[in-house]
Amino acid sequence: MSTYLHRSFVCFGHRGACGYAPENTLRAFDLAIQQGAQGIELDVQQVGNELLVFHDKTLNRTTNGTGWVTDFPVPVLRALDAGGGERIPLLSEVLALVNQRVCVNIEIKDHQSAEAVAHLVTHHVQQHQWSYEAFLVSSFDFDQLRRVHNANPAIPLGVLCENSLDEALAFAGEHGAFSMHPSLTCVNESFVEQAHGAGFKVYVFTVNERADVARMIAWGVDGVFSDVPDQMLAYALRLL
Ligand code: G3P
Ligand code: MG
Repeated sequence: MSTYLHRSFVCFGHRGACGYAPENTLRAFDLAIQQGAQGIELDVQQVGNELLVFHDKTLNRTTNGTGWVTDFPVPVLRALDAGGGERIPLLSEVLALVNQRVCVNIEIKDHQSAEAVAHLVTHHVQQHQWSYEAFLVSSFDFDQLRRVHNANPAIPLGVLCENSLDEALAFAGEHGAFSMHPSLTCVNESFVEQAHGAGFKVYVFTVNERADVARMIAWGVDGVFSDVPDQMLAYALRLL
């Protein structure tokens, strides 16, 4: 049983507590932990030799820069304002902030980060006494998940799915995944039963409304990703 995700219902701060602080920044991750989230979710992409915590392919929506992320060197990206004076963090900086307090769900956004992510996770376990249970690596890109698994099969995998639920379940079975991460728009009760029957946890994204978290709890999901972890946890407490 996971030390971090052992409760009957858990909440991951989606891009941190991004309903309250700039997404994927140290401030948002710190806030999610303060709000009682059992995990944080973040998006990574590799730029040069660094793993940057950033969601979009372009800078426009969340920073004061414009253009494609991969068109800029890391120092230029790191000088941008990612909201409220926050900087785009490195994955290693987020791990230093978290310091094993909650589970870190690393979502691989690009098509090239698998080996670097696997290496960083393995390094934290082997050199810094982290537990594999403190990590969950997910992606919509199954090839990235396959590559993480090939690099180190001890790393827990989460399989993201927005459609093709059967295909996602088959992949999860073949690669010994820990959890299924369906979108709120595609998940249904029968999928939750099927996933549980196959031994996977089910964490649903992105759940910010009371009616939705109530339905997820009624279906028996194990947790949700939320922009407002404080609200989802407070409401879930009343239902459980
Ligand atoms: O990992 C869950 C969720 O973050 C996936 O979608 O676009 O918010 O990264 P997105
Ligand atoms: Mg994400």
